[in-house]
Amino acid sequence: MEGRIKDYTTTVLILESITDGVFILNSDGRIEYANKSSLDLLGAEFDEVKGKFIDEFLVDSTELNRPGVSEDEEECPSLLEKLRNGIFRNIECYLVNKQNVTPVLVTFNPIKSKKGEVEYIIVIVNDISDIKAMEKELKKSQVIAVSRDRLRALGELTVGLIHQISHPLNAMHLRLDMLKSRLKEKGKISTDKLLPCIKDIDNMINKMVNIINSMRLFAQQTEDNVLEIVNIQEVIENVVSMFMYELKNLDIELIVEHRKDIPYILANPLLIEQVLINLVSNARDAFIYNPKKREKDRRIKIRTGVNPGKWVEIYVEDNAGGIDRSVLDRIWEPFFTTKEIDRNSGIGLTMCKNIIDSLGGNIKVGVRDGEGTIFKVILPIEQKSETQELRNLIEIFHRG
Ligand SMILES: Nc1ncnc2c1ncn2[C@@H]1O[C@H](COP(=O)(O)OP(=O)(O)OP(=O)(O)O)[C@@H](O)[C@H]1O
Ligand SMILES: [Mg+2]
Repeated sequence: MEGRIKDYTTTVLILESITDGVFILNSDGRIEYANKSSLDLLGAEFDEVKGKFIDEFLVDSTELNRPGVSEDEEECPSLLEKLRNGIFRNIECYLVNKQNVTPVLVTFNPIKSKKGEVEYIIVIVNDISDIKAMEKELKKSQVIAVSRDRLRALGELTVGLIHQISHPLNAMHLRLDMLKSRLKEKGKISTDKLLPCIKDIDNMINKMVNIINSMRLFAQQTEDNVLEIVNIQEVIENVVSMFMYELKNLDIELIVEHRKDIPYILANPLLIEQVLINLVSNARDAFIYNPKKREKDRRIKIRTGVNPGKWVEIYVEDNAGGIDRSVLDRIWEPFFTTKEIDRNSGIGLTMCKNIIDSLGGNIKVGVRDGEGTIFKVILPIEQKSETQELRNLIEIFHRG
């Protein structure tokens, strides 16, 4: 075998038949041999390339993108620099001749004499135009996908904003209705009755302003400046105060079971509040839409749990009959709803999931058939992006 390879004609025959381009250069870098594939890639005859320097045809990919660079070494370090630094394999270059520009991967094999001097250099050139074309297509489709995702996210966010604002708006509506009917009944309202109502309405307006601000921050994903030390109990109390009157009117008992040992966590309280508002609204709606399933003992319970040092848990459970197995897989989908389409957009749970994901947590659903539904929210006690300062603050809070 060895004897045959050494045979000049056989070697040339092999070189001519392989699909990779092969150049053999002398120690100066001038072309002494070019196989058929390399000439095909160049679109040239052997006479046109014979004796010429290889760098007339082989251009580093960075150089091709910098037209008009001088031959000053400082200015064009690319290919030369790579070789000097001992990089001889899989260098991305362009094979250039007249109108032909072919992206290639190049490998240099210096063949040395016994004395260690370079006698000649074998250059193997691999055509990668197909791969490059595919990369370009992929990039194009990625750009399209990113813009599509952004548009979709923007759309969801807008719908989400409307959705979130509708809760305090409804609550304000109820308070104003109550004031109106009192006025009709008695002709006037005592300051004692009026002041708490005004305070409530003022709170709702603040809530809407806060929601808009937090949504803006959420959209910008500026995690760092929205993180705060959050007392889960306070968040739950806010949510309870929002739903108290409404649920009482619907004959639904709202129970809170808060454990004393729940630590403060690092998160955005408004976002957690929005998640709980969504979950409680869904539980409320489940009673409204299936009134037959539970006529007495209607209950919504918010309770908390903890895995020390790791995460806190918030459960929102109801006994409104559960979620039909046939739709369970779809409830997280944007715009999926089983309710009246003009009042509900089907974005509530999508928003919850997005928010909890952005806080590094997890949200899951459990159904007790015919009984009710439990949503379990897990939130990490510390956020990955937290600063040392905030971590210290949390420690101080824990200690004292
Ligand atoms: N506690 C629950 N009990 C029964 N079904 C529920 C409960 N929570 C969610 N679902 C089901 O999941 C669906 C999707 O909920 P999601 O909050 O995403 O949208 P929605 O409440 O229908 O509309 P929106 O939240 O935009 O007002 C609901 O339409 C309902 O069928
Ligand atoms: Mg909902």
